[in-house]
Amino acid sequence: MKLILALSVLISFNTFGDERNDVATSFMKALQKELMMGMKKGPKAGLIHCNDKAMPVTNSFNNDKYEVGRVSLKLRNPSNKPSEELKRALLDYSSSSAKNKMDAKVILLSNKEEVFVKPLYMKGACLNCHGANLSAGVKNELKKRYPSDEAIGYKLGDFRGLVWVKKR
Ligand code: HEC
Repeated sequence: MKLILALSVLISFNTFGDERNDVATSFMKALQKELMMGMKKGPKAGLIHCNDKAMPVTNSFNNDKYEVGRVSLKLRNPSNKPSEELKRALLDYSSSSAKNKMDAKVILLSNKEEVFVKPLYMKGACLNCHGANLSAGVKNELKKRYPSDEAIGYKLGDFRGLVWVKKR
């Protein structure tokens, strides 16, 4: 029992100390900063701001050392479509929730590349734009900007998707 405990601490510590985890955290923080700036004027303004900024922020984290992105089974921006292998990972995580979290992990792809993935769960603020009761303003903007949007109807704590980080 003690050994199992020690091992699991070691494993989670290893993921925690993984530099890819730091990159994933900085990436999410940068997106959250934009989200908060946009939301100051309400959810509709926030949505327009995210529509503007999400991709440029993502691209700014893609450099000669790392490749990063977000994927989901229910997409808003079609460019976040998962590869077959990331889709499998998404399915693995899809039964988890904020109350029943799964840890970040490293996936080995068939081409031997490693991808670090970290789950995202729905918080209260997320529901303004991904929940079941959207304001009329948000609904209208979604229709205009993301006509094939699938990323709505989430509840608090739902698994939303993965942040992924690959070392080049
Ligand atoms: C103000 C509206 C708004 C809020 C609040 C919001 N999002 Fe989003 N979300 C968006 C928009 C707009 C996009 C598409 C961005 C783009 O064009 O790349 C998006 C895309 C995403 C994606 C990428 C996958 C996809 O479907 O394209 C994830 C993952 C995501 N949001 C998670 C979250 C989480 C987690 C929260 C809460 C911490 C959150 N969102 C809060 C508007 C919002």
